Amino acid sequence: MVNLTVVLAVLYTLSLISVSLSEFHTVKVQLEGEVTLQCSNFSTLISHIFWFKLNDGPNATVISSMLTPEVNAMIKNGFKDRFLMTSNITHVFLNIKNVNSSDSGLYFCGNNKDGSAVIVGATCLQVYGKIIQKNIHKLLLKALLDNY
Ligand SMILES: *[C@@H]1O[C@H](CO)[C@@H](O)[C@H](O)[C@H]1NC(C)=O
Ligand SMILES: *[C@@H]1O[C@H](CO)[C@@H](O)[C@H](O)[C@H]1NC(C)=O
Ligand SMILES: *[C@@H]1O[C@H](CO)[C@@H](O)[C@H](O)[C@H]1NC(C)=O
Ligand SMILES: *[C@@H]1O[C@H](CO)[C@@H](O)[C@H](O)[C@H]1NC(C)=O
Repeated sequence: MVNLTVVLAVLYTLSLISVSLSEFHTVKVQLEGEVTLQCSNFSTLISHIFWFKLNDGPNATVISSMLTPEVNAMIKNGFKDRFLMTSNITHVFLNIKNVNSSDSGLYFCGNNKDGSAVIVGATCLQVYGKIIQKNIHKLLLKALLDNY
């Protein structure tokens, strides 16, 4: 897992972003489940809102962006099938369907003010698998069968 503080420090040092992080969430979701990440505390007038994800490597990937909360989001290629960005003026949401293990990671939301990005919130998404649960079910089944 990437250390958030280190990452933000690096980005900040490189003057790529300014950070006014008011939210940090950790969200757990089951494999193949559905999750909605959210970002609040946007000022009344939000524009150029974006979601991006930090990968294992040094690169961040932009997932989606919205010019204004009233306009439909633009979802980047590769995210179109399972990702949905919406807004209700004060909050911005990122819905992910059919979550898979590669969706784990750090997600950031922010906006682009005069060409410089401001990160508003960060969410650490942890995907947990079904394998363990399946095994538990098997064990339970075996325990039941063993008793008959
Ligand atoms: C939103 O911002 C206000 C002040 O700027 C702060 O008091 C509040 O805790 C923030 N809410 C969240 C959910 O971060
Ligand atoms: C990161 O981005 C740079 C420049 O866009 C690209 O050359 C490089 O292949 C990328 N690395 C990964 C791991 O995606
Ligand atoms: C937007 O959604 C959030 C979370 O569901 C809610 O707390 C907030 O009041 C909503 N804002 C508006 C303007 O409906
Ligand atoms: C997760 O889904 C994406 C497509 O949305 C796919 O490219 C990727 O290979 C999948 N990862 C795993 C581990 O299934």
